[in-house]
Amino acid sequence: MSALVAFYFLLAAVAGSGFGVSYWLNGDIVIEGSCLGASLLLVAAGLVVWSHHLLPNGPYFESYPEMQSPPDAEAEVLATVDRGGVGRRRLLLGSLGAVGVTVGGGLVSTVRSFGPAPNSLASTVWKERLVLVDSDGKPMKVGDLPVGGELSVYPQGFPELPQVPAMLIHLPPGANHPLPGRGSWTPHNLICYSKVCSHAGCPVNLYDRMTLVMECPCHQSVFDVTRGAQPIFGPAGGPLSQLPLSVDPDGTLRSAGDFDHPPGPVFWHYSGSHPA
Ligand code: FES
Repeated sequence: MSALVAFYFLLAAVAGSGFGVSYWLNGDIVIEGSCLGASLLLVAAGLVVWSHHLLPNGPYFESYPEMQSPPDAEAEVLATVDRGGVGRRRLLLGSLGAVGVTVGGGLVSTVRSFGPAPNSLASTVWKERLVLVDSDGKPMKVGDLPVGGELSVYPQGFPELPQVPAMLIHLPPGANHPLPGRGSWTPHNLICYSKVCSHAGCPVNLYDRMTLVMECPCHQSVFDVTRGAQPIFGPAGGPLSQLPLSVDPDGTLRSAGDFDHPPGPVFWHYSGSHPA
């Protein structure tokens, strides 16, 4: 009977490893579920057989009030215990352990599906002296944008990352009212904000050059470009992130650091320290 139990456990181990293999090969979720289900069923079957046929079933009696077991009862208990045998016990526990390793390993490996760690949202690749490029990778220079113009820009070398897109805007002279400490962030009236909406992360693609606002098409949040992109309408609870700019002597536009606060929905990173 112990061989049957071990057989169940080994089959369960095979099914369990099938779950892990299928998961890592991007297999069908039906296959993964079938393997996991089969593995657990086989473990259950093995445990049922084990408990019914291999564990001591009794009944055992002990006469009262005598507390000392008679020699023959003691011998019977010892014989029962001995019936398990070290070899068989090892076989059963070893095969059960194989199930634990295969199924447990497969389940633990699914942690790779958890996605990036939350603190990876706290900063972006933008840093001091990264060249601003357009969608074709062309470095931006002062004079490329006429007054009233706007363009999507990216950090040179990292155009694909989801947190980096920003909108470069050429404001009319005197239109900007910089927040404290941001007076030097807008050389030549060029100002730059993240395009990741602070409400739910949609791309803020719309700029109205007449009213100097950026608008999010998802839920119609409106951000005042001239006052730190504070929200003035809609559900957004915080401003868009601003990118400080600097200009090389030849007119090449560069970032002067990362965004003033992490771009995206406020609940991703809210610390209470940034203007909201
Ligand atoms: S995602 Fe922009 S307003 Fe909702």
